Amino acid sequence: MTSGLRPGPLLLLLLLLVLPGSEEACPSICLCVSDTVSCSSSGLTKLPLSLPSSSITLDLSHNYLSWLFPGSFKRMPRLENLRMAHNQFVSLGLGVFRNASGLRHLDLSSNKLQVVEQHYFQGLWRLEELLLFNNKITQVEGGTLSGLSSLKKAYFSINQITDFPFFSIRDHSHPFLSMLDLSSNRMSHLPWEDVKALPGLVQRGLYLHNNSLICDCSMYSVFWHWDLRGYESLVDFVDEHTCAVYGNPRASIRFLRHSRFFRNCTVEKPVSLPVTVLLSHVVVTEGERVRLDCQTSLSGTELSFTWLSTSKGHITNTINDTLISLFANGTLEIRATEVNDTGLYVCTAADIKQSLNATREVNVTVLLPAPESFNTGYTTLLGCVVTTIGVLAYLYMTPCRCRYCKQPGPQAIPVATYDPSGLTSVFSTSMRDHHTIQARGVHGADG
Ligand SMILES: *[C@@H]1O[C@H](CO)[C@@H](O)[C@H](O)[C@H]1NC(C)=O
Ligand SMILES: *[C@@H]1O[C@H](CO)[C@@H](O)[C@H](O)[C@H]1NC(C)=O
Ligand SMILES: *[C@@H]1O[C@H](CO)[C@@H](O)[C@H](O)[C@H]1NC(C)=O
Ligand SMILES: *[C@@H]1O[C@H](CO)[C@@H](O)[C@H](O)[C@H]1NC(C)=O
Ligand SMILES: *[C@@H]1O[C@H](CO)[C@@H](O)[C@H](O)[C@H]1NC(C)=O
Ligand SMILES: *[C@@H]1O[C@H](CO)[C@@H](O)[C@H](O)[C@H]1NC(C)=O
Ligand SMILES: *[C@@H]1O[C@H](CO)[C@@H](O)[C@H](O)[C@H]1NC(C)=O
Ligand SMILES: *[C@@H]1O[C@H](CO)[C@@H](O)[C@H](O)[C@H]1NC(C)=O
Repeated sequence: MTSGLRPGPLLLLLLLLVLPGSEEACPSICLCVSDTVSCSSSGLTKLPLSLPSSSITLDLSHNYLSWLFPGSFKRMPRLENLRMAHNQFVSLGLGVFRNASGLRHLDLSSNKLQVVEQHYFQGLWRLEELLLFNNKITQVEGGTLSGLSSLKKAYFSINQITDFPFFSIRDHSHPFLSMLDLSSNRMSHLPWEDVKALPGLVQRGLYLHNNSLICDCSMYSVFWHWDLRGYESLVDFVDEHTCAVYGNPRASIRFLRHSRFFRNCTVEKPVSLPVTVLLSHVVVTEGERVRLDCQTSLSGTELSFTWLSTSKGHITNTINDTLISLFANGTLEIRATEVNDTGLYVCTAADIKQSLNATREVNVTVLLPAPESFNTGYTTLLGCVVTTIGVLAYLYMTPCRCRYCKQPGPQAIPVATYDPSGLTSVFSTSMRDHHTIQARGVHGADG
C-alpha cells in the first residue's frame, strides 16, 4: 500500500519535476515544444533576452532582425538548427556565432546580406548545411568557407555574386561537400583551373546555370566534360545553361544544345580532369569485417592512398592496428565493424608523378544484428525466388537481381546529392512543391 504518500508530498514531487523546465522560460511570443523554439513571424526586431538553453532548434524566420550581438547563441550549447530566413540582415557582426559551434544547419536565406565576410562562419566546423540564397550577395570573401570542414550543402543561388573562392575548396578541406549551388548569379568569367581542381563530389553537385557566362573554349571544355558524365546539374537545366557570344548579353546561346560556336575548341581528353567520383553503398551487420576498395580511374603502382571518414577522421597507411588497416593497394579493412563506424568514407588516390588524383566514396551503414534479420532475409530471398522463377540461370550465374534484394559489396550507385526539382520548387508557389521544400527542411522559401 502507498498510504504513506499523502497529497502534500505528491504535490511537492510534481513541483520538483516541473521546476527544472520552468527555470528556462519560453519567451511569451515564442512557441516551445520539446527542444524546438519557434519565434517565427513574431515581429521580432531583436533576439529575445532569454531562450531555453537546452534547445536544439531555433526558428527566428520571418522577422525584422537586422543585428545580432557577439556570442548571441552562447547560452544555447545544444543548438544545431538555426533558421533566420526572411529577416533584414545586411551584414553579420564579429563573433555572432561564437560558442555556437554545435550548429549543423544555418538558414540565412532571403535576407539582404551583401558581402559574405571571412569571419561570418568562423568556428562552425560542424556546419553541414548553409543556406544563403536570395540575398544581395555580391562577394564571398576568400576564407569564408575555410574551416567549415563538415559542410555538405551550400546554397548561394539568386544573388549577385561575380567571384567565388573556388580555390578554397579542396578534397582535404571539404571532403563531404556534395552540393554547391551558385546558379542565378552574375558570374561571367570563372577561374576554370580552380573549378577543375574542385573535388569530384563538388564538381558533380555544382550548379552554375543562369549566370552571365561569356562563351569561350575553356568554359566550354569544362561543361563538355560534365555533360559527358551526365551530371544532373547539367541534365536538369539544359536550357538554363547560356553564355554570351563575344560577351554580348543579347547574343546568348544555350551552349549545351548548340555547340556550333565551339567547333574550333579543342576539348581536352577526359583524363586531364583530375578527379572522378564513384559512390558505393555497403551495408554490414555489426561485428562483420568489411573491406572498402579504392578503385578509381587511376591505375598503376605509384599510387598513394588516404582515407577520410566522418567517424574516424584521416586514415593513412601508417595505420595498422587490430581494428583497422590500410593495404598498399588502397583497400581499407575494418575488422569488426561497430554501429558508430557508419558514415561516409572518402578515399583519395594520388599519382604523384603525373600529379593526378581521384576520389572514391563508400557509404557504410552498420546495422545492429536484429532478431528479425533472419526473417527479413528470408522474405527477401523468397521475393527473389518468386520473381526469378523460371529464370533459374540467374540463381547460378549472378547474385539475385530482383529489386527486393540488398546487394552488399561495392556496387556503384549514383551519388544522392540533390533532387533538382528542389531548385525550381524552392521558388515556386505550387502546393505540391511546397511540400517538397518542407520535407527537405528548406524553410521560409515560399517567396
Ligand atoms: C565560449 O568559448 C570560450 C572558448 O572558445 C570559452 O572560454 C568560454 O567559456 C565559452 N563561453 C561559454 C558561455 O560557454
Ligand atoms: C535567372 O537569374 C535571375 C537573377 O539573376 C532571376 O531573376 C531569374 O528568375 C533567373 N531565371 C531562371 C530561369 O532561373
Ligand atoms: C573557326 O575556325 C574557322 C577557320 O579556322 C574560322 O573561319 C571560324 O571563324 C572559326 N569559328 C569561330 C567561332 O571562331
Ligand atoms: C599489420 O601488422 C601485422 C603484424 O603486426 C602484419 O602481419 C600485417 O601484414 C600488417 N598489415 C598491413 C596492411 O600492413
Ligand atoms: C587489396 O589487397 C587486399 C589484401 O591483400 C586484398 O584482399 C584486396 O582484394 C585487394 N584489393 C584490390 C582491389 O585488389
Ligand atoms: C564506438 O563504440 C565503441 C563501443 O561500442 C567504443 O569503444 C568506441 O570508442 C566508439 N568509437 C567512437 C569513435 O565513438
Ligand atoms: C591532388 O592533386 C593536386 C595536384 O594535382 C595536389 O595539389 C593535391 O594535394 C592532391 N590532393 C591530395 C589529397 O593528394
Ligand atoms: C548513406 O546511406 C544512408 C543510409 O542508407 C543514407 O541515409 C545517406 O543519405 C547515404 N549518404 C550518401 C552521401 O549517399
